Amino acid sequence: AETHYHEFIVQATKVKRLCKTHNTITVNGQYPGPTLEINDGDTLVVKVTNKARYNLTIHWHGIRQMRTAWADGPEFVTQCPIRPGSSYTYRFTVQGQEGTLWWHAHSSWLRATVYGALIIHPAAGSSYPFTKPMRENVLLLGEWWDANPIDVVREATRTGAAPNVSNAYTINGQPGDFYNCSRKDTVIVPIDAGETNLLRVINAALNQELFFTVANHMLTVVGADASYTKPFTTNVLMLGPGQTTDVLILGNQVPARYYIAARAYQSAQGAPFDNTTTTAILEYKSAPCPAKGLISTPVSATLPAFNDTNTANTFTTSFRSPKQVAVPITIDESLFFTVGLGLFNCPKNFHSSRCQGPNGTRFGASMNNVSFVLPSNFSLLQAAHQGIPGVFTTDFPANPPVTFDYTGNVSRALWQPVPATKVYKLKFGSRVQVVLQGTNIFTGENHPIHLHGYDFYVLAIGFGNFNPQTDSAKFNLVDPPLRNTIAVPVSGWAVIRFVADNPGVWIMHCHLDVHITWGLSMAFLVENGVGKLQSLEPPPADYPVC
Ligand code: C2O
Repeated sequence: AETHYHEFIVQATKVKRLCKTHNTITVNGQYPGPTLEINDGDTLVVKVTNKARYNLTIHWHGIRQMRTAWADGPEFVTQCPIRPGSSYTYRFTVQGQEGTLWWHAHSSWLRATVYGALIIHPAAGSSYPFTKPMRENVLLLGEWWDANPIDVVREATRTGAAPNVSNAYTINGQPGDFYNCSRKDTVIVPIDAGETNLLRVINAALNQELFFTVANHMLTVVGADASYTKPFTTNVLMLGPGQTTDVLILGNQVPARYYIAARAYQSAQGAPFDNTTTTAILEYKSAPCPAKGLISTPVSATLPAFNDTNTANTFTTSFRSPKQVAVPITIDESLFFTVGLGLFNCPKNFHSSRCQGPNGTRFGASMNNVSFVLPSNFSLLQAAHQGIPGVFTTDFPANPPVTFDYTGNVSRALWQPVPATKVYKLKFGSRVQVVLQGTNIFTGENHPIHLHGYDFYVLAIGFGNFNPQTDSAKFNLVDPPLRNTIAVPVSGWAVIRFVADNPGVWIMHCHLDVHITWGLSMAFLVENGVGKLQSLEPPPADYPVC
């Protein structure tokens, strides 16, 4: 195994998109940031220097961080921010993960532009469970604002209203053919007749689930979230922010140019969203050259309707592990968490300009009615490790405080989220099941729920209210997929299981960043000492303190 050293300089860089130049926060002047490539078993050491004017942290999305919780990255959860002018070195080893992950800023909305791919190749001497592809390409799907994303979220936080939607989607940072001033920079993905290539598709968008397709080509899914899957073939992918999907594509069409396209899957009824389409071009090397001055128009791609929940759900539920897996059968912790929006009544001392949510409210979100508030004086991990009192409480509820028809059309008065910093304590080694139940307060929506520090098995996904009697019969205990982010369907639920074998404080949240802003998060404290995280080494010397 090798150790790879990298340096990330995070700073404002001039980036021109949609005909305008912006001062964009980038890593090493690149947008998207550098792709890191390692082999399973390798160690990554990344020194991050913050030369921007915002607080910063970097998260290595999907990396298990086995006993290296200090390197996980979410701001105020595992570390205080890297202040402007300072540095922090992340150091961790990858064990037993292969495929596509990514890294991104985990502070405010910085990840809108501070992100990149993290590719884990098989360990030296081993190989893919499929024929080695001729070419591999990373396709990072993103969102672009004609504004500073930090200003967009600040404005939404001030007014209590929904933030502005993005102005474009992007593939590897480029909006592509259908947007102004973007055509000549459209990303070209090469293929040749007869080749089988690997596309590593990552949804790095901030607030939008996306459909993805390639004109005239079928896609064979072979991996997701850095775990292999039983191959299945589809013409459309749906990725929630945070999710990755590895697909094989066979060059079996007439040599020409074909559109690769992505656009919104929007499950929240009536909510505003960016309804534009981003494109790249799959180009056969042997395609005839267009005559001088002529642009050969690529073959057009067809995407599902923006509200096609059936297609999204058919895709999400097609995943299986390649072979039988060891799902925990006996459960020590059976948890039931609601996930969804809620609206805060406006505090009396607030001016109406700060209450621009529906009917003079402020937008909020919660899990089990707790709207997560980050601490500001210590990270949760440091507080847990050093036994610092008063930073968090350990009474995050195992069940919703009130039960009701979660996916029915009920009054929001039932569900006024309560802001608090609560964690749920898990005994080291406990076998955990979480039912993630979507709610329809104000509106229902597909929530991509991401757990840090773990991969989990997805046992079942369904619509309506989870019914423990009838729905547990549907659990896949044989070959459920291993994921780090699961799309809990609109007006539905998902059930996950994992073994709490990694000490630390691990945030679980909706990966739509606007929902994090509104409080759709909680954290697990996995302890194996009495009152302290005794098995965790002390933090590194340059660990940022608040
Ligand atoms: Cu990819 Cu907590 O995030």
